Amino acid sequence: MNGVDRRAMLHMAAGVTGAGALLAGCGSDSGTESETTASTTTGATATTTATASAAATASAAAGSDSEVITAAADVPVKGGVITTDYVVTQPEAGTYKAFSNICTHQGCVVSSVADNTITCKCHNSTFSSSTGEPTGGPATKALAEISVEESGGNIVKA
Ligand code: FES
Repeated sequence: MNGVDRRAMLHMAAGVTGAGALLAGCGSDSGTESETTASTTTGATATTTATASAAATASAAAGSDSEVITAAADVPVKGGVITTDYVVTQPEAGTYKAFSNICTHQGCVVSSVADNTITCKCHNSTFSSSTGEPTGGPATKALAEISVEESGGNIVKA
């Protein structure tokens, strides 16, 4: 080992020892530790409050806590929209209904809505777009209805 390497090793050893002394100092000086902890806690609290405030603002911007299913403008009168989970209909102007989009016959997703009829093309079951009751085909049970309302131009869960 040459002189430079030895000095480097000594310098590193001193650094490690110094760090150990600093750590020991933190642990043994309870006054300093308390101040540090208090400062950290205050910062954490402020961050939490800001996050909660941001969530409240986002919720207020959405108009309510209700889940938006679709835009009201996308639901035609006497027709409907099939979303990922629901079929939303407008049997008459300004009246919105929503049902599970799962056919009660054998579980296909319903295919279309027209002339106030929801159709499942798997085996041609049909359902009323205002009640969800079966009106034709092999299905004998109604589509499960979900209570909805129009709010701020959206159809939301009521
Ligand atoms: S699954 Fe819909 S008609 Fe059979």
